[in-house]
Amino acid sequence: MTLSDIPRVYEIDQLSFPVPWTPQSYGYEVKENPNAYMTVLETRPTLKSSTWIGRLFQRALPSQMVGYSGLWVIAGEAHISTIAVHPEWRGKSLGEVLLNDMIGQSLALESEYCVLEVRASNLTAQKLYEKYKFEMVGRRRGYYKDNAEDALLMHLSFSDPDYRRYFADLSTQLAAKVSYTR
Ligand SMILES: CC(C)(COP(=O)(O)OP(=O)(O)OC[C@H]1O[C@@H](n2cnc3c(N)ncnc32)[C@H](O)[C@@H]1OP(=O)(O)O)[C@@H](O)C(=O)NCCC(=O)NCCS
Repeated sequence: MTLSDIPRVYEIDQLSFPVPWTPQSYGYEVKENPNAYMTVLETRPTLKSSTWIGRLFQRALPSQMVGYSGLWVIAGEAHISTIAVHPEWRGKSLGEVLLNDMIGQSLALESEYCVLEVRASNLTAQKLYEKYKFEMVGRRRGYYKDNAEDALLMHLSFSDPDYRRYFADLSTQLAAKVSYTR
């Protein structure tokens, strides 16, 4: 994510959350927070061509930002601060691409565990996190100020030696569904 991405990120944020972040808070994460890893996901129309000129042309096609995510990594802890996909693009494995990328980044940075908060009513997001083996470890009562809804605290430990293999298998399955590059 760069500063020029923020208007579109803010647009998706407003469509995704009852209380969006401010554009200034994205600016802080992008420019000033040394522990933040802010990512945007862009899609491009696909050309059915395997020639080098086709691939070159493919890269020149206009892209569209359809989602974004935020991760903080501090002293062995990875914390997912945000993740959203534009409503018109949901259900196409793109949220999983964003989550997969953050977990991959957390592992690469040798984090010991990853945590996040999710609204108790947000079953879609909880299913996504459970797919990657996050577990509910706590509940913060009335955490969300707009409707006093509880937050569930979810935790994923990287200490299980089998987790990397499990993650690699999920990544392979995801790559078979969606073609993406970093
Ligand atoms: C949560 C969110 C990022 C998921 O993105 P998405 O692109 O729609 O999800 P994907 O298509 O990648 O689905 C990945 C997994 O999520 C779960 N999931 C997705 N849509 C679901 C639905 N309608 N019902 C139940 N589970 C669902 C499934 O486990 C799915 O895995 P599967 O394909 O193997 O079944 C998206 O719904 C979103 O932006 N929501 C608003 C913002 C938000 O709530 N963010 C989370 C804050 S904690």
